[in-house]
Amino acid sequence: MAETVIKAHDVWKSYGKLQVLKGLNLDVFKGETLVILGRSGVGKSVLLKQILGIETPEKGYIEVSGQRISAMSQSKRYEAVKHMGMLFQGAALFDSMTVGENVAFYLRQHEHQLNEEEISKRVGESLEMVDLAGTQGKMPSDLSGGMRKRAALARLIVYRPLIILYDEPTTGLDPITAAQINELINKTKKELQATSIVVTHDIRSAMDVGDRLAFHHDGKIAQIAPKEEFLKIQDPLLHQFFENAIIKEQEISENSHG
Ligand SMILES: Nc1ncnc2c1ncn2[C@@H]1O[C@H](COP(=O)(O)OP(=O)(O)OP(=O)(O)O)[C@@H](O)[C@H]1O
Ligand SMILES: [Mg+2]
Repeated sequence: MAETVIKAHDVWKSYGKLQVLKGLNLDVFKGETLVILGRSGVGKSVLLKQILGIETPEKGYIEVSGQRISAMSQSKRYEAVKHMGMLFQGAALFDSMTVGENVAFYLRQHEHQLNEEEISKRVGESLEMVDLAGTQGKMPSDLSGGMRKRAALARLIVYRPLIILYDEPTTGLDPITAAQINELINKTKKELQATSIVVTHDIRSAMDVGDRLAFHHDGKIAQIAPKEEFLKIQDPLLHQFFENAIIKEQEISENSHG
């Protein structure tokens, strides 16, 4: 039996009158990359926020490594999720800091036992891992969109998280840069042996990085299966999602070829 690292059980979350999560259940297994697909506004980012513990569900619970984080005080929860990192949708760097300072940021804040030499070594290794070796002195404004995304990933992996949540890591990137990010997600999984959730609209990305795929619809995980089986699922809503995604991709590629 695969070990469950993240468990969402009967999770409900609303904002005012808007009921976003409606009894959502999900198990994520150790070492896998689980991809969550779903149309815009369905609540994918909201789900990640409950898992990261920055928001709490009204009903149901979230467990991370067997600990029920949704029932904890803030300080306990912080301790329990310290091995989890999230690449936020948009993944902004701090504009007034160099790339090196950006990547060192969380180490300086949380790993007080490290001296400057060790920090600089870890920063160098992280930047190397995302193919940005030697960019420590550059400002974010000197980097392309794809490079900024990679630097944001370096800032995340510098503290060697065991669980990584990626929110739309390839959205807004051209196909070649998106492919580089997908490769990096796979490389990070291998080198850190991390358990990951990747939220995306991008079917190509889902196929490149996912071990299992899930379809988030109407407040729940409506379908979940290993990648090969997922494509064979007979579900009109899922087919509709695929069709829309493919049309969108064609439009993007037609636009980018002028
Ligand atoms: N803090 C909040 N306050 C009020 N409404 C919110 C809040 N966060 C999310 N919502 C609403 O919840 C719904 C789900 O939002 P969410 O950001 O999770 O969508 P999503 O599936 O990530 O969409 P996208 O693919 O466009 O990123 C949306 O209608 C959104 O407006
Ligand atoms: Mg989102």
